[in-house]
Amino acid sequence: MTKHYDVEAVRKLFPAAEKMTYLDSGFQTPMSTPVRQALEVFIEEAYETAGPKAIWVERMEGVRAKVATLLNAGPQEIAFTKNTSESMNIAANALPLKPGDNVLMLHGDHPNNAYAFLNLTRKGVEIRFVPMSEVVNADSFRPYIDANTRAISMSQVTFHAGHCFDIESVGRLCRERALYYVLDIMQGIGVVPIDVKRVGATFIGAGTHKGLLVPQGLGLLYWDSCCTELEPAYLAAISLAHPPADFIARPDELELSATAGRFEIGNFNLPATHALGAALDLIASIGVEKIAAHCLDLGDRLIAGLDACGVALVGPRERHHRAPHIYVAALPADEWLNYFADKGVRLSPERDGLRISFGMFNTASDVDRFLDVLREHGSASGCSPKAA
Ligand SMILES: Cc1ncc(COP(=O)(O)O)c(C=O)c1O
Repeated sequence: MTKHYDVEAVRKLFPAAEKMTYLDSGFQTPMSTPVRQALEVFIEEAYETAGPKAIWVERMEGVRAKVATLLNAGPQEIAFTKNTSESMNIAANALPLKPGDNVLMLHGDHPNNAYAFLNLTRKGVEIRFVPMSEVVNADSFRPYIDANTRAISMSQVTFHAGHCFDIESVGRLCRERALYYVLDIMQGIGVVPIDVKRVGATFIGAGTHKGLLVPQGLGLLYWDSCCTELEPAYLAAISLAHPPADFIARPDELELSATAGRFEIGNFNLPATHALGAALDLIASIGVEKIAAHCLDLGDRLIAGLDACGVALVGPRERHHRAPHIYVAALPADEWLNYFADKGVRLSPERDGLRISFGMFNTASDVDRFLDVLREHGSASGCSPKAA
């Protein structure tokens, strides 16, 4: 395999990857040493000094700038949220939609994106589900747009089959037809390179517990700061341009922050922002392009091995249509998940099979171990692995 970076050195930063064959980063990533150390700094400061909040918040602003760099956005376009679902709900409720308007989505997209918009049906907004095929691009949506279409919302990478959709072509379509464009990049962030300016999205949501290596409970929202007409459904003092210094709310001073801070409410998950800072430094020290290239190579090895075992791949095979790190083998999860777990191989059950998902620390030996365990089952039962 081509050496894109020193994977063995990176792997040492993820001790859990040495204790099991961890092929489940599409679910969550194991904690790395730099993330643990950042959390320990926070805990130590909280424990010993009762919390230097001003310093923590200042560090959080530094992390906001790092998130912006990762996405090619401005720091003023990044809000911290709780998770992807909260980001998608903020976006859905900020769009100026009225009864009779419609939003296009992909049938079978992640429910945490879909429900944020389906909730708008209570206000008379129509959600139109467009069929999801192996390739999704502008042409997938074009036939469904009519005079009442106002927005498209979709995931960049599918969690259940590892598609990686052409989000830039959909962005061009949205610009052409003056539609709002909302993206869920939860599965792609940290592994699939993204330039939000090229994509041209209005809002982008993600959590940080997969490719961004942080424990659950911190999310991100990108907002195109040119869209000043978009206002939050919820309000807190920090959402305002001029929060009252005396902490007395004034009904006549509701001017919103000019930054994505208008979508933030209340205090922050400060320990998680510390963890994110360390994770982003680690990612930047390697480069997202290199992480993607490495995972794609692992994927090639996996696909060749599945082919040799006669097990079908669910989802795209071509490099430019597949997510670098997410693969689903057509092995019925209820038959196979526990078998692999018993052999120390961590995977996720999905709609159409077993999901094998890579992180920056996985090596060819992890893929080979998965394939060996797969073959062992076949030889023990005297038959080749049964495809779904
Ligand atoms: C595409 C996608 N969106 C969202 C989520 C999760 O949403 P949340 O961050 O709100 O838990 C996942 C997986 O966990 C996902 O794959």
